[in-house]
Amino acid sequence: MRQLLVTGGAGFIGSNFVRHVLAHTDNVVTVLDSFTYAASEDALTDLDPARVTVVRGDIADAATVDPLVRRHDAVVHFAAETHNDNSLASPAPFVQTNVIGTFTLLEAVRRHDVRFHHISTDEVFGDLELEDPARFTESTPYNPSSPYSSTKAGSDLLVRAWVRSFGVRATISNCSNNYGPWQHVEKFIPRQITNLLSGSRARLYGDGRHVRDWIHADDHSSGVLAVLDRGTIGETYLIGADNERSNRDVLAMILRLMGRDADDYDHVTDRAGHDRRYAIDATRLREELGWRPRFGDFEAGLADTIAWYRAHEGFWRPVKEATEAAYAAKGQ
Ligand code: NAD
Ligand code: DAU
Repeated sequence: MRQLLVTGGAGFIGSNFVRHVLAHTDNVVTVLDSFTYAASEDALTDLDPARVTVVRGDIADAATVDPLVRRHDAVVHFAAETHNDNSLASPAPFVQTNVIGTFTLLEAVRRHDVRFHHISTDEVFGDLELEDPARFTESTPYNPSSPYSSTKAGSDLLVRAWVRSFGVRATISNCSNNYGPWQHVEKFIPRQITNLLSGSRARLYGDGRHVRDWIHADDHSSGVLAVLDRGTIGETYLIGADNERSNRDVLAMILRLMGRDADDYDHVTDRAGHDRRYAIDATRLREELGWRPRFGDFEAGLADTIAWYRAHEGFWRPVKEATEAAYAAKGQ
């Protein structure tokens, strides 16, 4: 039985990870989360209080972080500012949380010799050409495009330096685009689903040919546990489920699954510096750690996700109007 400190555990992937840990291990969890706009109290309320404790606090606050880190066996670090569009409008919180917050955690795990797993993104590698057969691997050079991805790249490099210079026991995983329950409506898939549920139209940036490599959040969680349990200290593992899709194709699937017309969407202003394509080669995770995704059928996973948003209007309705107003102000 391990005591895990999960930062960002009230967010989309962090809360899915906490549920995964409760279902598949005997670990107990402390969530450290500052409850930004992206967090949800509901995402944690039905969990066993004997196994989950929630602490409200900022990962960049050493006085909060240090005593918490000291009494845990491992830190799994999800907390971040995560939305590219927000990072273009206002980069400062991204530098503060993603860089300074990660630095603060690294100093605490260094002081107390606590195992650290850092959650990162495929976006640190920049983007790929649409017709290029290449995919990202653990040795792809870093080339981030946005304020978000550059701060995640910076945090990855801090982790690598703390391993090499101070002997911190850390691993890193870089995952592709996640979908599933509890994702904020600012993100692509929940935005389209909840627009349609609200009687409005879907919104596609630019020409919509951009490609993302979709993975269910529960498969991301099992990949993270595999690295935490069996990964080699100092190493990086890419997590992806071989599921590249253009935004146009994902939207067409959502429209079909929700019984709407194929043209029930608007093209809106493109994202500045919009990355064209991401694609993960997860051979290392599969072969070295024996990991396999469970959600092989994307259309079935998407149908479940649509059903989840239909059934959980209380999660998204209170923030929907303000999220759409912010998009509308940017012509998106
Ligand atoms: P999210 O935006 O849904 O949740 C982030 C959580 O972090 C929120 O609960 C928020 O309150 C918390 N947080 C933010 N700043 C904090 C601070 N200073 N102190 C404490 N808590 C703070 O994010 P997500 O989509 O679940 O992403 C989680 C992690 O996974 C991030 O590190 C992200 O870079 C990474 N990631 C995300 C994806 C994806 O598709 N969403 C893919 C790969 C990697
Ligand atoms: O690749 C991993 C990354 O995936 C994570 O690191 C990020 O935290 C996460 O937000 C996600 O980044 P993206 O920018 O790829 O995700 P987003 O959901 O914002 O957009 C997905 C694609 O859909 C992207 O090409 C932009 C496009 N898009 C997005 C929105 C919100 C639209 O066409 N319309 C929209 O309304």
